[in-house]
Formats: sequence, C-alpha cells, structure tokens
Amino acid sequence: MPVFAADHKSTPAYLDTAANAHGDEKALLMARSVDRVAADRPHVVEIGPGGGAAVTALASLLRERGRSADLTLIEVPDVESRGLAHAIERFSAVGTCRLLRGHAQDIGRLVERPADVVSASALLHEVYSYGGGYAGIHSLMRDLPTILAPGGFFAYRDVYAVRAPSLHERVTHVYDAPSWLRFLRLFTPLYLSDGTHPYHHAQDEVVVRQDSVIVPVARLQASTCAVVRAPVGLLREVQRHYITFRDHAWRSGALGFVPVLEGRPSADWLDARSGHKRVHYTVTAADWLPRSQRAMLMAVSEPYGDRYAVDGDIFDACTDIALAAFLTAVERGDAECGMVWNDWAAREGRETYAYLTLDELITAVAVHSAEASGERRTVLLPARADDIIVRHRHYYSRYLRKRLANPLADAKQLVLFSHIDVADSEILGEALAAVRGTCGKQNLARVYTALNPGG
Ligand SMILES: C[S@@+](CC[C@H](N)C(=O)[O-])C[C@H]1O[C@@H](n2cnc3c(N)ncnc32)[C@H](O)[C@@H]1O
Repeated sequence: MPVFAADHKSTPAYLDTAANAHGDEKALLMARSVDRVAADRPHVVEIGPGGGAAVTALASLLRERGRSADLTLIEVPDVESRGLAHAIERFSAVGTCRLLRGHAQDIGRLVERPADVVSASALLHEVYSYGGGYAGIHSLMRDLPTILAPGGFFAYRDVYAVRAPSLHERVTHVYDAPSWLRFLRLFTPLYLSDGTHPYHHAQDEVVVRQDSVIVPVARLQASTCAVVRAPVGLLREVQRHYITFRDHAWRSGALGFVPVLEGRPSADWLDARSGHKRVHYTVTAADWLPRSQRAMLMAVSEPYGDRYAVDGDIFDACTDIALAAFLTAVERGDAECGMVWNDWAAREGRETYAYLTLDELITAVAVHSAEASGERRTVLLPARADDIIVRHRHYYSRYLRKRLANPLADAKQLVLFSHIDVADSEILGEALAAVRGTCGKQNLARVYTALNPGG
C-alpha cells in the first residue's frame, strides 16, 4: 500500500491552493444538513479539512442564516495548512472550532460528543488509498452511526466514478494523442504495481493493441494509435490522473507557462455551459523545451496586463504538446522533469480516485452502517432523491471530449446520507424510494437484506 506523503500534502501550493477551490460545493451538504437538523447549535465534524475551503464556506453560510455551530475538524498528524489555520480563526465569528489530530479510521475514539453532521469531502479516496482499501472505508462506514446523533447526517463528496454497473466492466478505448500515449505508458504500470486498487482479478487485465498486435502497456509506442481493453474504472483513473498531473506540471512552472487557476481570471468564460473559457497565463524561465513551443503559444495570445490571455482550447492543445515533450524528458532521465514527476507520483499518483460508483457507494454505506453496533438499529441512506448530486466539470469535460475518442465524464459525486432509525418505516420507505433511481435492483436487494438481518 502506498505511504501517505504528509510532507508533500502539506506544501502550501497543494492543500492551500491547488486542492482548495470550490468551497461552496464542499460545504453545500453541510449547510443543507444544518438546515434540517433539530439542534439549534449543531455539532459538525469535518474529516480531512485540507486547506479549510469548506470551513470558510460553512462560516459564511451560517452567518447568512444567523446560525451558529460547534465544528470539530479531524486531520492527519503532521499535515499542516496555513489556509486552514486562518479558516479556523475566522470560524470563531459563528461558533467554536477545534482541530483534532488523528485518522478517520479512529473516528469512534476521537469524537466524544455525538455529531449532528459528519462531512467528508475528497476524503474517502484517501482512506481507500492509504488506509486499508475497501476494508478501511467499510470500517469507517460502520463507525459513522456510532458517532452520529439520531436524525444526523453524513455529507459525502468525492470524485465521480463512472456511469456503469461496475468499475470492472470491460470497455475498449482508443488513444492517439502523443501526450496521452506517453502518460499511459508511464503511469499505468506505476499505478498497477504501487497503487492501492481493485484491479487484480483475471478479468481486469489491461490489453493494449497497436497495429493489431498485443503490446505490454509499459512498452507501447507513443507514435502509434493504441486500442486499450481494460476495466472502465482503470481507464477512469488514467483520465483523472492525467488531469491532476497536467495541473501539477503547470503549477511547477516546468512547462514554461503557468495558467492562473484560482480567482476571477480562472473563470473568464466564453461559454460556461460548454466549458469554453479564455485562459490567463504567465511565462516562466524553464528552458528545456524548444523555444518554438512557447513562441507558438505567445503568437496566438493577447497581452493582458502582466500576463497573457488565450482561447482555452488553444491553451490545452499547446499544453499537450509541451506535456508530450515533458514526459519524453522524464523517460530519458532528465533530472528536473523527473523531480516534478516524482513529486506528483509521491503525493497523489498512486491514489485511487474512483473506488465505488454512486450505486455501489450508496449500497455500501447502507449495508455497512446497518451493521454498526448501537442501542437502536439505524442505517445511513439518502432520504430524498435530490440528496444525490453529480456536479459536472465542464472545462475538463470539454478538453477530454476534444482529446479522447472515448472520454468519461469528469465530475464530483455528492450524497447526503440521513441517519435513519430502522424502526421508522415511513422515513425508511421514503429513503428506499429516493435511491431507486440510482441503485440497481441487485443492490436494492442487498440493502433490503441488510435492513432485515433476522429474515
Ligand atoms: C484531497 S484533500 C481534501 C481536502 C478538503 N476536504 C477538500 O475537499 O478540499 C484530503 C484531506 O483528507 C486528509 N486525510 C487523508 N487521509 C485521512 C485520514 N485517514 N484521516 C483523516 N484525514 C485524512 C488529508 O490530509 C487532506 O486534508
């Protein structure tokens, strides 16, 4: 199992900046829960607060509502964030906020006062990746009801998996872009050998064909179209990791240009619904790329104050050309590029982002929470159909559609689980109706069986 790289995670450029956007979305289900709990001053627990985006957003949502709350944060020992420290300070205007050091896996021991709301944004994929795979997340699902007050909520948000019955469904995808072919060749063997992932079954083998001949993924030709037959979940990982690596390479400055990825310039939309925007960027001193590449980008850009602005589609195309050269340099042993690659690989390159589809997630949380030991038998299920949300990332999806023959949707999945007393047949009936549109019949039957263990 890969090691959780606390030092790489703590670099200010990561938790405080790169992983700290979309605060309103991260706090959305917390705020929705606060509106629905009976307690006047709810106890909210956030596991893995990162750079504090949700803490800040929750504080302003509470202020707007004239509400207050007691917030407990649980963060891994040694992970530090200046952004979080500021967010904690500012939260005092709407309640109390304390930071506990520990792991989600020990939540039963860490949280002393029953929680009205437990929130976990982009946390479960880390528990899966570093904290015991499925056993780790199932154990957390069993612990949640033990710390949740009756009528409380579990607010979940993470990377959207796929729209398929299973991550193991075999699909055939075609890749012809040189940067993607190089990434497939470098990343896939690393992930399969060093990552925590579920692709160990005979049916999960990755089969790559080039010119109709099967070639090992580590030796595929970057100049020839590749036809890849593999589990859809694995190809989802490739896609997701490409996007996070691209972001990391930009921010490192190694590509020779750095887009503005936060604040107003990062949302200069030409058409937000189709994900089309202008990208604002600055140039860096990186000099290993052929000068012509940067010159080409600047030739199609407009000066904009101390930076440049260019159509996002053109920027993405130039990025892929630079990334292909960058990955070639990594494979050649270039020290500077190798360091950038290794930093990313240590920090997040071995993680599994898509561990459960929405159907499987809702089923797993329901089945395992129903196994929790407690005085009353309870279960965690979404109580309303609109407590299950998919938020699409239009800019990324636009890029993926342009570059890949078989793009998978880039999005976040959010589910608000209610802590329901199994004896409350009315609410339970509503919850089972709410998940019918998302969960398949086999999984509904598993939930029903878990709710009726005595037969
Ligand atoms: C990808 S970041 C997400 C941060 C924040 N929740 C957000 O959505 O922006 C994951 C966070 O969970 C923390 N984390 C990872 N594994 C954890 C664990 N086992 N227990 C508690 N926190 C953990 C990380 O240190 C980091 O703060």
